[in-house]
Amino acid sequence: MKENPTIAIIGLGYVGLPLAVAFARKYHIIGFDINEERVSQLKEGEDLTLEVSSEELNEVLSGSEGKKLEVTTDAAALSNATVFIVTVPTPTNKYNQPVLTPLIKASETVGRRLKQNDVVIYESTVYPGVTEDICVPILEKESGLLFNKDFFAGYSPERINPGDKEHTVTRILKVTSGSTPEAAKYIDELYRTVITAGTHLAPSIKVAEAAKVIENSQRDINIAFVNELSKIFRMLDIDTQDVLEAAGTKWNFLKFTPGLVGGHCIGVDPYYLAQKAQEEGYNPEIILAGRRMNDGMGEYVAGEVVKLMIRKECKVKHGKVLILGITFKENCPDIRNSKVIDVISELEKYNLNIDVYDPWASKEEVNEEFGIVLSTSEDELAHDYDAVILTVAHNEFRDFNVASRRNDPSVLFDVKAFYDKKITDGRL
Ligand SMILES: NC(=O)c1ccc[n+]([C@@H]2O[C@H](COP(=O)([O-])OP(=O)(O)OC[C@H]3O[C@@H](n4cnc5c(N)ncnc54)[C@H](O)[C@@H]3O)[C@@H](O)[C@H]2O)c1
Repeated sequence: MKENPTIAIIGLGYVGLPLAVAFARKYHIIGFDINEERVSQLKEGEDLTLEVSSEELNEVLSGSEGKKLEVTTDAAALSNATVFIVTVPTPTNKYNQPVLTPLIKASETVGRRLKQNDVVIYESTVYPGVTEDICVPILEKESGLLFNKDFFAGYSPERINPGDKEHTVTRILKVTSGSTPEAAKYIDELYRTVITAGTHLAPSIKVAEAAKVIENSQRDINIAFVNELSKIFRMLDIDTQDVLEAAGTKWNFLKFTPGLVGGHCIGVDPYYLAQKAQEEGYNPEIILAGRRMNDGMGEYVAGEVVKLMIRKECKVKHGKVLILGITFKENCPDIRNSKVIDVISELEKYNLNIDVYDPWASKEEVNEEFGIVLSTSEDELAHDYDAVILTVAHNEFRDFNVASRRNDPSVLFDVKAFYDKKITDGRL
């Protein structure tokens, strides 16, 4: 294991790019991605995920020898690396089963370039066992080398939060692990050179894998609980936010808020753990109940809005609805697995006409992903909506003049409890 490694980062998305930039301040980094468009944008200093600024990116792209980032789609460039960090997607399919294809393909690519004493670290979120039971055999097969004799592996989960400019990669304590005590020490020390928040060396790869997947499962279950509370309290005509505020004054009450659970992590990772549990013959009741609750919230919100519209005698048949926000979370352009689409699909069943406004999302991406013509500027919107639903708490919506867009009568439903309660007709 080399003291001053050249590090290859495989997959330059939300996780891989910020990591590559952080490491490029100290090491020579080969950033590899199969997406040619992404790589050519990065070469131009442009990161469409908005996680890295053009200034930072250009700085590391033109860095000095031994401290720079080169980005490429040419896998041959990986031959120069001695450490490989894999940050490719780990999605689920339509049956909510893990899709390990990107991880398998990336392992094949790395395996073909693996040399004596190289180290392969996985960062993608997985269930316990994927690194050693699925990826390592591929590395062995492709390289002809022996695990823990000729090459070593590690797992270090990523904890970044897209759009969060405070908890950036180097400022989040990082869990590390390795396949032998020496590899673990090497990997831990390597991360320590760039992660200013420090590291936690887990006793094994499986522990590190399990830690990541339960972090997100725990969040999912806690949000599912407050979503359930919101359903109960709406029936009782009690404001859930007021209840949470009151209960939150107790020192050990956990502060979670109801909402739509989308994105690439919280709504997906629990299925990874559930699948592994099922393979072992255990049906994870709490994890899957949480998933069912959260996956049903889009439909629930739409139903509540329509009920309110009927109660207020708003135009429902061919009425007009404005949705504020389509990204999976606030102040970031990420639309992956956004649950706003569930609200829209359900409203469409009532023959409502729906406009979606989001100043953060890309028109092209939204059209490609959901077949929706997105409005990205206020000029594109009407002034006579029968319902307005705030689904994402983007900062821009703070100054958005909702009143000037509403018909009389109309409904304003606030999924995120973003606006003053007095001006809304309902919230979670
Ligand atoms: N986005 C987050 O906030 C976040 C946080 C923590 C952990 N994670 C986990 O990190 C992993 C990566 O997530 P992401 O959000 O960065 O995904 P992403 O889709 O933003 O980026 C992944 C990149 O990998 C590339 N890629 C796919 N297959 C490849 C291959 N075989 N070889 C090379 N490149 C390949 C894609 O083109 C893409 O650019 C996932 O496992 C995810 O669960 C994500």
